[in-house]
This record gives sequence, C-alpha cells and structure tokens, in this order.
Amino acid sequence: MIYFDNNATTAIHPEVLEEMMPFFAEQHGNPTSNHRFGRRAHTAIEEAREKVAYAVNAHPSQIIFTASGTESNNTIIHGVADGYPESIFGYSAIEHPCVSKPVEALRKRGFASIEIPVDQNGLVNIASLSDKPSNQPTFISVMMANNETGVIQNMPEIVQWAKKNKAIVHTDAVQALGKITVDFEVLDVDALTISSHKAYGPQGVAALVVNNKIDVVPFIKGGGQERGLRSGTENLAGIIGFGKACERAAANTVLFDKTIRPLQSYLEQHLVQMGAVIFGNQVKRLPNTSFFAFPRLDGVTLLTALDKKGFAVASGSACSSNSNEPSHVLLAMGIDKELAQGAIRVSMGVETTLEQVKSFITSLKMEIERLKQLAAMAA
Ligand SMILES: Cc1ncc(COP(=O)(O)O)c(C=O)c1O
Repeated sequence: MIYFDNNATTAIHPEVLEEMMPFFAEQHGNPTSNHRFGRRAHTAIEEAREKVAYAVNAHPSQIIFTASGTESNNTIIHGVADGYPESIFGYSAIEHPCVSKPVEALRKRGFASIEIPVDQNGLVNIASLSDKPSNQPTFISVMMANNETGVIQNMPEIVQWAKKNKAIVHTDAVQALGKITVDFEVLDVDALTISSHKAYGPQGVAALVVNNKIDVVPFIKGGGQERGLRSGTENLAGIIGFGKACERAAANTVLFDKTIRPLQSYLEQHLVQMGAVIFGNQVKRLPNTSFFAFPRLDGVTLLTALDKKGFAVASGSACSSNSNEPSHVLLAMGIDKELAQGAIRVSMGVETTLEQVKSFITSLKMEIERLKQLAAMAA
C-alpha cells in the first residue's frame, strides 16, 4: 500500500517513537508532582518545549501544549472572545472547520463575524475588508497553507492589514510545519497553531504559540498547567515525541523542497496530460500537495478504486471525507460544484519516491479509463 495522505496524518518517525517509549512506562510521572518522577517529567517537557519553540523561532514561554490543532484553534478563538467581549471575528472562507465552527458557536453567543473571501486561486482577498472600523474584524484567522489545495497565503499582506487596523492575528500553520519555513517572529502574528501528527510526530499533541501581548482567557480551566492557559495533565510521551519531531522540521523542509517538489511537478505534468484540472496551481503551494479533479468523474468513486489498487489518497479534507458535500474550499474558490465533486488529493511525504509516483500514474490511467467505460455503458 502506498500512502499519499500525509496531509491527513503522517507516520511517526522511528526516532520519534524511540524517544517516546521510555515515557510510557519506566519514566512515567506527573510533571506537577514534587518528587523525582515528577521533576524528571517536568524537565523532559521543558526540553521538548525548547525544541518546539526552536522549530518555529518562538520563545519557549510562548509555547502552550494542547491535545490537537483543533484544540489550539478553539483555545485562541474562545480565549480572545472571553478576553475581548467586543471582538468581531474575521476568518477566511477556506479555514479548517476547527476555526469556522468555533466562530459559528460565538455567533450564537452574539459575537459578530466576517467571512473573508478568496480568489479563484484560493488566495485570501484581504482588500475586500471594509474601510469602516465598525465593520472590520478585530481578530483575524487565516491558514498559512491550505490542507486541501496546499495554497500558501500571502501572510505579510494579511499581517500588515491586521497591524494597520489593530486586529489580533492568528494563523493555522498545521500544514506548514516541516514543509515550509514557519517563523513566529518573522510572521509577526499574535498566535499560531501547529500539530505534531502532521509532521511525523504522534497524534493527540499540538501547540498554540502565543505572544504575551494579548489577553487570552483559558479555554480549558483547571489545575493551571501550561501557564494557566491549558489545564490538564500533560501528554508526557506525546510532548516528548512532538519535541523530537520538531527537531527534524527544518531538515524536512529542505527535503520537501529539493526532493518532493520535483515529484509534485512530475505527477502534475502527467495529470494535466490525462485531462485533470489542478486546483490552485497558478500560485505558491506546498511542495507535497496536488488537489485535482477529472471532469465528470466522481472523487469518492475514484478514491475507492485507487484504494483497491493499493493507493491511499483523499477526496478532500480528512474531516469532511465522511460527507459527500463538495469541498467548501473549492466552492469558495468559485469552482463548479460538479467538478469539485471529483476532487482527489495526493499529499506526499518525505519518504515518497519517484517509483511510487510512477506506479500511481499507471494505476490512475487504468482506473480512469475503466470508470469512463463504465459511465459510457451506463449512459
Ligand atoms: C489546516 C488544519 N488545521 C487544523 C487541523 C486539525 O488538527 P488536529 O488533527 O491536530 O486536530 C487540521 C487537520 O487536518 C488541518 O489540516
């Protein structure tokens, strides 16, 4: 089986797993305990915090460990709502549901929100925001790189707008970590989300990187861990693994650019020859992501056929693959609903080879011909 669904989750790197193992048993301990076990666990977590901070050029004190990218995004959105009750929430039309749904929940509590449109390439149209302060967001969240199309946003332009208009700015960099450079200081955002399992670390651990200039009210309240911003006993082994995975992020970024980007070009040349439409291919994208559709071919049918042939791809975002609705990202880009229904996402990993891509192209060609013949027979 060839795995082309790395934007959904990645396999834990063997070195990451090895580093985690002792913390499940012999090196257990609650980091808040004051005996040797606790102190050792506390030290290990602080070392991991330094590694995570280093990977995104932040200060260790700015790293808040959470259980998922979803939780990090909920933490910043609900935390800002409670810290700034007059907030108006701006978020792009292509955000992950773990940004749009918390904002939807806040709307029910009486908060105002603004969905920021994207153009046909999937780039956020920040200029569409009103000039009137009363109609402007006071908080904006824009994904650094999109999980479906891989399109990379023009973050300097977005941050510049936020600074000029005194809005708090957050970016969901879950898909960016380890694929392109994520630099908290250079980005100059107030908060940023990363998640371990998208970058060869374990599932169930993530971070919210947040500067101390903003007043975030804790979303999960309790024993006061993580500077009081995220209570709950830390996922010790998970955090250790996340730290180790982060040590590999910079090298992976180089590898993606040098080795995987040429494979993406190779695949896409063949896809175009086969008649595919590739979404977002006019602008900068992640080096591993190809989101495409063949006119009149259903994406889920093709996904199932490819699965039987031994290839794991996605028909959209992992979270929406249970639904038959076309991708909200593609609809926001103005893509025709019927074409969007055919969308397939290939997301390569650091271990992807040219042989794997070639064998995918061969199988895809065969499956497309077969499905076209079946459709012709049914017509
Ligand atoms: C862009 C983006 N943000 C957030 C998430 C959610 O992260 P997690 O799976 O850690 O909750 C995902 C997962 O698919 C994602 O792709």
